[in-house]
Amino acid sequence: MTQIMPSPADAPTPANEFASMVDDRIEEGFFQVDRRSLVDESVFEAERRAIFDKCWLYVGHESELPNNGDYLAREVVGRPLIFWRDVSGELQVYLNSCRHRGALLCRVPEGNAKGLSCFYHAWTYSSTGELSALPDEAGYGAEFDRTRFSLLSPPKVDVYRGFVFCCFDPDAVDLPTYLGQAREYIDLVADQSPEMEVVDGMHEYSMAANWKLFVENSLDGYHLLPLHRTYFDYLKEAEGSFLDPRKATEAEALGGGHAVITVEGPWARPVARWTPAMGEENKAWIDDQRKDLEQRFGPERSRRIAETDRNLLVFPNLVINDIMGIVIRTITPTSAGQTRIAQWSLATKGEPEDVRARRLDSYITFQGPGGLATPDDMEACESCQIGFQTATEAPWSDISRGIEKERSGEPLAASDEIQQRTFWRHWRDLVEG
Ligand code: FES
Ligand SMILES: [Fe+2]
Repeated sequence: MTQIMPSPADAPTPANEFASMVDDRIEEGFFQVDRRSLVDESVFEAERRAIFDKCWLYVGHESELPNNGDYLAREVVGRPLIFWRDVSGELQVYLNSCRHRGALLCRVPEGNAKGLSCFYHAWTYSSTGELSALPDEAGYGAEFDRTRFSLLSPPKVDVYRGFVFCCFDPDAVDLPTYLGQAREYIDLVADQSPEMEVVDGMHEYSMAANWKLFVENSLDGYHLLPLHRTYFDYLKEAEGSFLDPRKATEAEALGGGHAVITVEGPWARPVARWTPAMGEENKAWIDDQRKDLEQRFGPERSRRIAETDRNLLVFPNLVINDIMGIVIRTITPTSAGQTRIAQWSLATKGEPEDVRARRLDSYITFQGPGGLATPDDMEACESCQIGFQTATEAPWSDISRGIEKERSGEPLAASDEIQQRTFWRHWRDLVEG
């Protein structure tokens, strides 16, 4: 029987709690991640403190609250929040916890109200956050001061191009600084029409795998053809289109752990790349969209907006897939081996009903939780997690594709792994200090 033992180069340090879990030796062509980082609950606890208590996190899109008084209950990495457009039209993010004894103030997923009343002792808060009423206030005595009990907000809340974020670290950099170069790619999404809106409804699903595996997967161009063969076979059969491997793709590290991959896929982009799948009857409308983009942004930028698909990671857990539809996706760990995913579709406001229907159909076919790709991705991540039960014997995951190109400064492709390496390097800097 042949026994394959790791070569010395494969196993640089014994996996112990003092060694870095990210083995980053670019000069030697090695980049490996210790699989303990994907299974250990103590690592997940460290991530909570070092990442999710420190980074800016996505809450929602401003279009989800079209009317004054609209509210949504949102959970942002374990913290219950209320995302509320107050009576004066300002966006508010509150901790969803009554100032009296902490009960959830908002106990339904969504609604519209000028105020919310806590079900426990009926303290009532206005949409602008003040404690507006409570039963038998006199019973608290003359010194009771309602203004001490307004709803609290996360220390930082800000909006970029309609995307609302919060941060639980009062000392964090401001949102535009945090987003850095990722802003350019958010702009390419936000600029697709004068007004964008989140389509009603959302998808929520979960998987028995570590959240970082799905972050990696969301930026992974290498798996497209082998893992999603069913989808590409379907596309060929149904639409006669296929992913052309000769087309140039790109992968880019954007700093701060953010990253993007860019491809030119075979599918229609409802923003302004028509294919027969969008229907003859919609061609003129889509062509007009393209003309409008050209007027607003000139030929080069409008080509980028219309022709190129992109998957953007905003560190740590927001992914924007701008492909055949636009998916806003949050990847939330609930333990080291369990992840919850929420996703929304972002679309051109006012697009014809049939364009909207085709956009949603195309998106759901590929990226819906029951579509032809997402279940493959879930299965792959869960399969890795099961494989990690051998982590003691096989401790390292390889993430070195394109490392020579990275070293020499050559352009990188979507099937390279600079995008995952940049995530992991930032993860290491935060978690391991
Ligand atoms: S906990 Fe909300 S009113 Fe008492
Ligand atoms: Fe995939």
